[in-house]
Amino acid sequence: MPRWIDGAIVCAARSRNKNDRMLELVDLTKIYPGAKAPVVALDKVNLTVGRGEIYGVIGRSGAGKSTLIRCINLLERPTSGMVRVDGHDLSSLGDRALNQARRDIGMVFQHFNLLSSRTAADNVGLPLEIAGHKPAEIRTRVADLLDLVGLTGEAGRYPAQLSGGQKQRVGIARALANRPKVLLCDEATSALDPETTLQILDLIADINRRLGVTVVLITHEMNVVRRIAAKVAVLEAGRVLESGPVYDVFTKPVSETTRSFVAETVGYDIPPALLALAAQHPGIGPATLVRVELVGVAPGEPLVSRVSRNFAVDLRIVAGRIDAIQGRPFGGMVMLATGTPDVIAAAIDYLRQHNVHVEVLGHVPTNDRAAS
Ligand SMILES: Nc1ncnc2c1ncn2[C@@H]1O[C@H](COP(=O)(O)OP(=O)(O)O)[C@@H](O)[C@H]1O
Ligand SMILES: [Mg+2]
Repeated sequence: MPRWIDGAIVCAARSRNKNDRMLELVDLTKIYPGAKAPVVALDKVNLTVGRGEIYGVIGRSGAGKSTLIRCINLLERPTSGMVRVDGHDLSSLGDRALNQARRDIGMVFQHFNLLSSRTAADNVGLPLEIAGHKPAEIRTRVADLLDLVGLTGEAGRYPAQLSGGQKQRVGIARALANRPKVLLCDEATSALDPETTLQILDLIADINRRLGVTVVLITHEMNVVRRIAAKVAVLEAGRVLESGPVYDVFTKPVSETTRSFVAETVGYDIPPALLALAAQHPGIGPATLVRVELVGVAPGEPLVSRVSRNFAVDLRIVAGRIDAIQGRPFGGMVMLATGTPDVIAAAIDYLRQHNVHVEVLGHVPTNDRAAS
């Protein structure tokens, strides 16, 4: 492990007891003048990010994500409210102290923002030059940083000679140059293809583990949050609609917006003819359409096979999608259960007793079943 990384870990461990809250936003509000009427871009946002945590902020276009980022590093002065980084109130600082405090916050951008006339190494070294470090010191640190992001062989290349993923690795190394306490990623993977996105997310998670740096991920993509964040806040019209552990927020969404993000990853289509038939015949019958949600079920729990073994019920999956958040199953499916209505009802009870959410969509009369 490179020398300075050792140091960073020691620092993170030492300060852990002092304050477990790395980033605190208190009633953060930003109102732009706007052409006609004032625009409330952030409306009393409250958010606490723990030390060493990966925290996702998800929202649609116009939700206020970029404003949030710019207010966190005080590129934009909040209209009211407070931004605290590691216990220091940034909003109270003058310009000079603020410049110093900003070194605690590393930024990763959607479009990388590299200087095209500088090599990968010189892009990574730029913040160190600005901070006034000695050339020899910069060379050593840049080599360590490039090693950390897996770009040692690309040190002398220019941005135009690098792939999107490599450019973002340079962007991440540069963001870490001043040993920030917080890494702010603004749509860091939105310009990348799906496979590269996963590689970059895994790199960010790896850096978080190795350096203990706190990460805030701003994104419009549910998959980004699902992959590496432990906690999430859903932002809409400048407000936090809900926040908490990722699994809890996505399995028990309270807002329509959160539900729509969930549907994007685990959405599935039930055959429309079947759904229409079931809707016309509510309740349980000899062929019953049920929606089963696998939320809070222990990984690998063979509930479905246990039901068909213990009850005289045939289960046919007609639609579904199961995914995982932090190793826990997440998603659901629609099944056609056939058997006698009493036994189907008992099987549904059994599932419910095991914390499986089961919704009866209706039943399909025998003479119509060919239609399914
Ligand atoms: N400089 C500005 N002046 C006026 N309105 C702005 C400005 N920047 C952003 N807004 C408005 O604030 C809201 C939030 O924008 P933004 O933070 O860019 O959202 P997001 O990044 O989630 O797409 C939008 O309604 C946008 O039009
Ligand atoms: Mg934006």
